[in-house]
Amino acid sequence: MSNSVESITVTDNRTGNSVEIPIQSGGVSSTEWAKLLGNIWYYDPGLGQTAMVESSIAEINGEEGILRYRGYPIEQLAENATYLEVAYLLINGELPNKKQYQQWELDITHHTYLHENFRRRFFESFHYDAHPMGILISTIAALSTFYPEAKNVDDPQIRMRHINRLIAKIPTAAAGAQRFSSGLPLVFPDNDLDYITNFLSMMFKIAEPRYECDPVIKQALEKLFILHADHGQNCSTFAARVVGSAQTDPYSSVAAATAALYGPLHGGANEAVLKMLAGIGSYDQVEGFIESVKGGQGRLMGFGHRVYKNYDPRARIIKKAADQVFEVTGKNHLLDIALKLEEHALADEYFISRNLYPNVDFYSGLIYEALGFDPDMFTVLFAIPRTAGWLAHWNEAREQQGRIMRPRQLYTGEGKRDFVPLSKRPKSPK
Ligand code: ACO
Repeated sequence: MSNSVESITVTDNRTGNSVEIPIQSGGVSSTEWAKLLGNIWYYDPGLGQTAMVESSIAEINGEEGILRYRGYPIEQLAENATYLEVAYLLINGELPNKKQYQQWELDITHHTYLHENFRRRFFESFHYDAHPMGILISTIAALSTFYPEAKNVDDPQIRMRHINRLIAKIPTAAAGAQRFSSGLPLVFPDNDLDYITNFLSMMFKIAEPRYECDPVIKQALEKLFILHADHGQNCSTFAARVVGSAQTDPYSSVAAATAALYGPLHGGANEAVLKMLAGIGSYDQVEGFIESVKGGQGRLMGFGHRVYKNYDPRARIIKKAADQVFEVTGKNHLLDIALKLEEHALADEYFISRNLYPNVDFYSGLIYEALGFDPDMFTVLFAIPRTAGWLAHWNEAREQQGRIMRPRQLYTGEGKRDFVPLSKRPKSPK
């Protein structure tokens, strides 16, 4: 092996045999490892030290707080792009030119409607106060039954057709879920509106002939959508890739990703942050709350990240956007509590020593609430833009024709033992 290639050497101390493994793109190949250690599994709970795939979609440098989509810094995209441009970039690898963008917008805005069955029967079948994330997950999964053609996952044209459809329909499904669980009639998509305004119209239109929205509000949501569009191999994207690796259709794969996002340690954190701030209740309770977290009573939601050991760059942009929104909507009463929490946590040894900084969810809920969204809609607001990221990864995996994902385990259970009939088992369990 050439000395110019950086490498590591692994020695099996049982036999004295060694293998030299080249370091490529910051990783070492398990195929080389297996040449020496075929039945020794690399034990990595939470997969914190494992690269499952090669990907060219999002680059994250957690030490320096850097996020780039296809090479473009997140700050530049958030400042200058539309969400649909970013979605195109994630899926296709390049920003669209004018003609490509017009066609993309047209394709998206002409697939916004859901089958009438959803409005008439599907939503109606949920309990009146069903959480919109539960409805959204089910809606996305149900879409697969309306488009069986999408099972042809090896056909790039069919893949692209359903990627367009899903990006187009997700705001309709999301708004429908919320309107249903609020007891409001569903609003039809208005295909003359842009992506963001159309979503806001489906969310908030009551009896006015056409929904009008403040440009500051629209811009803020556009920015939030861009910031949430992708983030490498996070829990939900990983779920999309795992399910997609079985050659599952895009709707079912994205439904699985949406379910992963629902959890409070992932996309559900934005809802949990708002509940936490409301629970703290007042400015002078902040120190006591921080002490309770340090004492092991719960976590400071919206803080900490598996990858970022520095300030999450998205949190910085959101914090700035919040100021612009509050100028229009008035300040969210929980903002002062959030600011004090951040200030105290960033100066506290417990949080410093564990590299715990605000993540994307710390301030996003405050803006969402100021924009008029209920807390149970916050994770849905994350799912809408992340759909482009999930689909970009799902599509990349199909292009790579990757193997089905099937990790190993370290078995720690009982050895072989014989079956005992029910009548002969001890009365009290071990
Ligand atoms: N509050 C208090 N302590 C924390 C927090 C927190 N938010 N996050 C981590 N810690 C502590 C842990 O208790 C642990 O301490 P210990 O070493 O004394 O046991 C240490 O920091 C390391 O924590 P891990 O759980 O090992 O870190 P991991 O990388 O597995 O978890 C996670 C990352 C899930 C994001 C975690 O920081 C967390 O629970 N944060 C709060 C929930 C949250 O905001 N999630 C959103 C993440 S962003 C996203 O998904 C969009």
